[in-house]
Amino acid sequence: MSIPRTYSFARYLTAKKSVDDRALNRHVWQSLGAALPRATPEQPLHLLEIGAGLGTMVERLCADGMLTNTIYTAIDLEPTLIAEARRRLPQWAAAQGWQVQQDTPAYARPGGHELHMQRPGQDIRVATEAIDVFRFIAREQDQRFWDLIIAQALLDLVDVPTTLPALLSLLRPGGLLYCPITFDGATVFQPEIDPEFDRAIEACYHQTMDQRLVAGKLSGDSHTGRHLFTHFQAAGAEVLAAGSSDWVVFAGANGYAADEAYFLHFIIHTVHTALTGHPDLDAERFTAWIAQRHAQIEQGTLVYIAHQLDVLGRVPTPLGEIQA
Ligand SMILES: C[S@@+](CC[C@H](N)C(=O)[O-])C[C@H]1O[C@@H](n2cnc3c(N)ncnc32)[C@H](O)[C@@H]1O
Repeated sequence: MSIPRTYSFARYLTAKKSVDDRALNRHVWQSLGAALPRATPEQPLHLLEIGAGLGTMVERLCADGMLTNTIYTAIDLEPTLIAEARRRLPQWAAAQGWQVQQDTPAYARPGGHELHMQRPGQDIRVATEAIDVFRFIAREQDQRFWDLIIAQALLDLVDVPTTLPALLSLLRPGGLLYCPITFDGATVFQPEIDPEFDRAIEACYHQTMDQRLVAGKLSGDSHTGRHLFTHFQAAGAEVLAAGSSDWVVFAGANGYAADEAYFLHFIIHTVHTALTGHPDLDAERFTAWIAQRHAQIEQGTLVYIAHQLDVLGRVPTPLGEIQA
C-alpha cells in the first residue's frame, strides 16, 4: 500500500482486529469463560461493553462460542462508529451462518437499535447506543444489573480512580469486569533510527497520555495496565486473572498480515499528530523521523510493539447471597 493521505478511525479499528486477536491473553480469556455464570433462555447473561467501537469484541466472543443466551449492550461515544457497527455486525453474523433479525424494539431508547442473532445453542441480542460512558453510568446508577462489563482499550483513556468504582457499581454482586488491551508504558519501534531520539519520542508520546485533558479533567495514564491492580483493590474488587497482551506487528515473507500496514501508518500518524510542535523535539528532525517510519512500513521493515495488559476482576458477593 502507499502512505495514506487521509486517515479513518473506523478503518484503523477494523485493521486492529487481527492485531488484537494475536495479542489477547489466552489465560485471561479462558479465565473469563470459566468465571461466566451459566446463562439460560430464562436467565440470559447481561453484558455491557463500553467504548465498543465497531463491535469487534461482539464478533470475537460470538465466534469463540463463549456466549450462549446473552443480552449484549454495546455503547460508544462516537455515533459514526455505532452506525458502522450496526452496518457491519449483521453482515458479519449472516456470513458466519447466524440467523439475523434487526429491529427497534418497543422498549428501545430513542436512537436504540437491536440485532438478534441465533444459531443452534446460541441466542444473542445486541443493542447498540451512541452515548458517553459517564452519561450511561449516571443514567443506570446503582442498578447493579450487569453480569459482565467489558472495557477493551478504553481504561487508558479515562480517569481510572473515579471511573472504575462507578463501573463496578453497575455490576450485580459477583459480577465481572474484563479490561483487555490496557496500555502499559512501552511503545517500541524497530529498527532504531537514533536510540536517543527514539527514546525522547517515546517519552514525549507517553507524556501526552499522562497529561491528556477531557472536559478539563486529567484522563489517561501511560501505565494504566500495571496500576489496575491497586485501583481494583482500592475499589474493593478482586483480580481474578491478568496477563500481558502486547501488540507485536511485523512483516513476514508476504508482508504485513491483513490490513496491518494501514494499522501501522495510523499509529505513526497518531504519534505525529500528538507530538507536532512539542517543545522538547526538534521539529525538522521529528518530521524526518516520521517520514522514515512511514517509509519503513512501505518497505516492510518496521516492527511495532506496544506493551499492554489484560485484567479480569470481580466484585464481591455478600455471604448471604452465595448460592449453594
Ligand atoms: C481505542 S478505541 C477501542 C475501541 C474498541 N474497544 C476496540 O478495542 O476495538 C476507544 C474507544 O472508546 C470510545 N470512547 C472514548 N471515550 C469514551 C467515553 N467517554 N464514552 C464512551 N466511549 C468512549 C472511543 O470512541 C473509541 O471507540
